[in-house]
Amino acid sequence: MAKGRTTVFFCQNCGYESPKWMGQCPGCREWNTFVEETVEKKSAGKAREERKAAAAPVCLSSIEMKEEERVSAGIEELDRVLGGGIVPGSLVLVGGDPGIGKSTLLLQVCQKLSGAGHEVLYISGEESLKQIKLRAARIGEFSDKLRLLCETNLDVVQDTIRELKPEAVIIDSIQTMYHENVSSAPGSVSQVREATSVLLQLAKGLGITIFIVGHVTKEGTVAGPRVLEHMVDTVLYFEGDRHASYRILRAVKNRFGSTNEIGVFEMRENGLAEVENPSEFMLNGRPEAASGSIVACSMEGTRPILLEIQALVTRSPLAMPRRTAAGMDYNRVNLLLAVLEKRLRLSLSNSDVYINIAGGIRISEPAIDLGVVLAVVSSARDKAIDEKVLAFGEVGLSGEVRAVSQAAGRVLEAKKLGFTTVILPEVCREQIGKVEGIRLCGVRTVADAVGVIL
Ligand code: TYD
Ligand code: MG
Repeated sequence: MAKGRTTVFFCQNCGYESPKWMGQCPGCREWNTFVEETVEKKSAGKAREERKAAAAPVCLSSIEMKEEERVSAGIEELDRVLGGGIVPGSLVLVGGDPGIGKSTLLLQVCQKLSGAGHEVLYISGEESLKQIKLRAARIGEFSDKLRLLCETNLDVVQDTIRELKPEAVIIDSIQTMYHENVSSAPGSVSQVREATSVLLQLAKGLGITIFIVGHVTKEGTVAGPRVLEHMVDTVLYFEGDRHASYRILRAVKNRFGSTNEIGVFEMRENGLAEVENPSEFMLNGRPEAASGSIVACSMEGTRPILLEIQALVTRSPLAMPRRTAAGMDYNRVNLLLAVLEKRLRLSLSNSDVYINIAGGIRISEPAIDLGVVLAVVSSARDKAIDEKVLAFGEVGLSGEVRAVSQAAGRVLEAKKLGFTTVILPEVCREQIGKVEGIRLCGVRTVADAVGVIL
C-alpha cells in the first residue's frame, strides 16, 4: 500500500469508524454494516501548506446582520418544513427510501424556482437526460432557467457550479458522486463525506442553496444519509407507505427553524400535490359504527392532525398473546395495556391486541394515549364509540389523564371537521372554558373517560 494510506472500517449506516472489522456496530447496533475503505493520511506539514489564510476572530457586535431573506420554494408544504422558505447558501439533505418521491419533489422545486426567475441547476447521477425529461413531462411546463446535467464526477460538478453560478443546485443523489482523490467506491462513507464537504464549501462560499438527495439503504454497502446529517444545515426525511399515495416530509434537523413541522403530499399521476387539510385526508374512508375505532388528535408543529386509531382485541390461542403496534411505539402500547389491566381490571392476558393508526402515519406524541386506551376498551367490549367523538390526553401509570399542550387548537380542529364531543384532560377543559357548538368532557382518569362514552 502506498505510503500515507491506511485502511479503516466504516459503518455504512452511521459512519462509525473502527480500525478492525466488527459484526455489530457499537454506534447504531446494526449488523454487518462495516466496509473497509482506504483513507489518505496527510502529514502535518502538508496539511498546513494546504490550509488557506486563516480568518481572524471577530467580536459578536461587529458582525453585520442582514435581514435573513428567504426564497419561497413555491410549494407551501415544503416552505413550512424549511421554517418559512429556502435560506440562500444553505445545504439541505433530503433523505428517504428509494422510490418514495425525492427526485419528483426536487424536480417540482426546480420547476417552481425556475418559473419564478431563479437560475437552477439539476445534477443527476442516477438518471439519463431522457428519463428526467419523461418525468418532467408528467409534472408540467418548465422554464429555460432550469439546466440539467448528468454527471457523477465531483470535479466536473464543482467546475460547472462555479462557472454557471446558479441560485440553487440539486444533487441527485449524493451516493452516486465520486471524488477522484478518494480511492474508495462511490457511495462509501469516505466518498459521501468528501462530496458533502466539497458541496458545503460551494454553498457557503458562493451563497448557493444546494439540495442533496440521500437514499436510505437497508443493506450495508451504500452509506446512508445519517452519516452526513451533522454536516448539513437542514435534514428532511421523506416518509410514507409506498403503497399509500400520501407522503410526509419531516424536518429532523434545521438550523433555520423548528423541527416539529411536517409537510403532507399526495403522489398523483402528475407529480406530488400538496395536501392542505391533512386531517380530512387522514380520516378518509373511516368505518361507520365499528367497535375499536376512535379519532385522536396529534399536534405536528403548529398544525393539529386528526387521525383514526384502531384497536382489535381478539381471543388468543397462544400462550404468549400477540401485540402489535403500527404507527406508534410498541413499548408505549404495552404500557397502556398494562394500565388498563391494573386500573380498569380489563383482562387482556388471553387476548391478542393489534393497534393501528390508520393511513400509515407514525405518531410519537403521547396525546394519542387516551385514544388508544378507549379504542382498546371499545374493541374488548365490542361496543362502538359514537363517530362524532374525539379524544386526546396523555395517560399516566396510575391511570390518570394528564394535560397536553395547545388543547384549544385541537378542539377547534375537531369542531372544524364536524365532531360534536371532545374528551380531554380536565385541566385542559378548565383552561379552555366553553367552545360554541361542541361539547367538552373533561376527565381525570381513564375510568372517567370510559364511563363517559362506553
Ligand atoms: P422518485 O421521485 O423517482 O423517487 P426517488 O427519487 O425517491 O427514488 O419517485 C418515483 C415514484 O413516484 C415511482 O414509483 C412513480 C411515482 N410517480 C408518480 O406516481 N407520479 C408522478 O408524476 C411521478 C413523476 C412519479
Ligand atoms: Mg430518484
